[in-house]
Amino acid sequence: MKRPLTLTRVHRRAWLPRYGSACLVHLLALSFALAGPLTAAAASTSVAAEALSRLKGMDLEANPALKTAVLRVVETTRGTAQFVELVRDFKLPGQEPALLDYALQHPSESSATEAIRMVLNLPQPTLIQEALKGARIAETVQLLGSANDRRALPLLEELVLSPKASAAIRYKAVRALARSREGASLLLRHAAENHLPSELKATASEELSRAPWPEIQEQSAKLLRPAGNPADALPPLAELLRRRGDPKNGERVFFAPQANCGGCHQVKARGIDYGPRLTEIGVKLGKDALYAALLDPNAGISFGYETWQLETKDGEEATGLIASETEQEIALKMPGGIVTRYPKSNLAKREKLKTSTMPQGLALTLRPQELVDLVEYLAGLGKPAL
Ligand code: HEC
Repeated sequence: MKRPLTLTRVHRRAWLPRYGSACLVHLLALSFALAGPLTAAAASTSVAAEALSRLKGMDLEANPALKTAVLRVVETTRGTAQFVELVRDFKLPGQEPALLDYALQHPSESSATEAIRMVLNLPQPTLIQEALKGARIAETVQLLGSANDRRALPLLEELVLSPKASAAIRYKAVRALARSREGASLLLRHAAENHLPSELKATASEELSRAPWPEIQEQSAKLLRPAGNPADALPPLAELLRRRGDPKNGERVFFAPQANCGGCHQVKARGIDYGPRLTEIGVKLGKDALYAALLDPNAGISFGYETWQLETKDGEEATGLIASETEQEIALKMPGGIVTRYPKSNLAKREKLKTSTMPQGLALTLRPQELVDLVEYLAGLGKPAL
C-alpha cells in the first residue's frame, strides 16, 4: 500500500500548481482508487483534502463528479479541523450537527469558533438550544462567547437572566457576553435597569472593568463598581519601586484568573500566545518601564500589537489583533488566542483603535503588594538566576 500513496504525493507536488480543476477532480478520484476503498486512510485523505482546498468556491451542483469526490472526503475528515474547512469552503448544507459535535469536542480551537458560527447561521437556533440543555452546556457557553457573533447574544442573555441555570453557568454566560462590545452593552443595560441578578454583579464588574472599550469601562465603573475601590489606593511609583517583591508569588498572580496575564501572554511555553511573549521581558524593560506597561497599557503600544476593530456588513463587530492578512481576508486574533477569519468582501469598516487590548484597569484590581510581586517576577524573566 505504500507505493500508491507515494505516487499520489508525487502527483500532488508536480501537477497541482499547473493543471486546472478537471485534473484535480481526476487526481482526487485517483488518490482514492489507488489507495483502495479500505485504505482511504489518513495520508491519502489529507492529500485529497489539500487538493480539494484548492477547488473551494466551485459550484458543486454544476459538477457532479466533484460533488461525489468532495462528499467522500468530507465523510473521512469528520471530527477534524479539515472537516470544518471543507464544509465552509464548499458551503455544504446539512452538516450542522456534525459541526456542533466537532466544536464541543475542541472548544478552545479556532476551527471550533468557525464551526459554531456556521451552526449559528441556521435560521433557527434549535440545535444550540438543545446543547444548552445537555451535558456539554459549559462548552456550549464558552463557544458562544468565542464565536463573537451577535446571534449568540440572545442565547447567552437568556441564561444570564434565567433563574433555572446553575450559578457556574450564569457566571460563564456573563463572561461570554462581556467578550463582545454588543454583549457588554447588553450587560450594562440590564445593570442599569436593575435586571442583572445581584450575585452576578461582581463578575460583570470584573469582566467589564477590563474590557478594551473605554466607554464600557467607564459605564461599568459607574453602574457596577461596589462602593470603595477593592484595591487600596496605589502608593506613588517611587514607593512601589523601593519595595521588594516575592517573584514566586508574582508568578502565581500572573497565572491566576483574577489578572489573567497568562490568558494573553506566554512565559516560556506557559500561557496563551496573544500579546507579546514575556519570557525575556526583564531584559527589555526595567521595573519603572514595567510599572508603566502595567498601569498605562495605552501609553506605548508595542509595534504589531495595535488593536483593530472590524465591522461586517451585517453590523457585527470584532476587536483584536490582526494575525494575518491576504487580499481576500483578514485573520483577527482575539484575547484568548482564538483566530477568526473575516472575508474582506463582507467588511464594512476597519479601524485602528488608540487603545491597547491589554485592559487599562487590570493592574488596579491587584493589591499593591501583589503588583510589586508581579513586577519583581517580570523583572527577573530572561535574567540568569543569581
Ligand atoms: C486581553 C489581553 C491581555 C491581558 C489580559 C494582559 N495583556 Fe499585557 N499586553 C497585551 C497586548 C496586546 C500587549 C501589546 C500592546 C501593548 O503594548 O499594549 C501587551 C503588552 C504587555 C507588556 C509590554 C510588552 C513589551 O514587550 O513591551 C507587558 C510587560 C505586559 N503586557 C504585561 C502584562 C501583565 C503582567 C498582565 C497581567 C496583569 C497582562 N499583561 C495582561 C495583552 C494583554
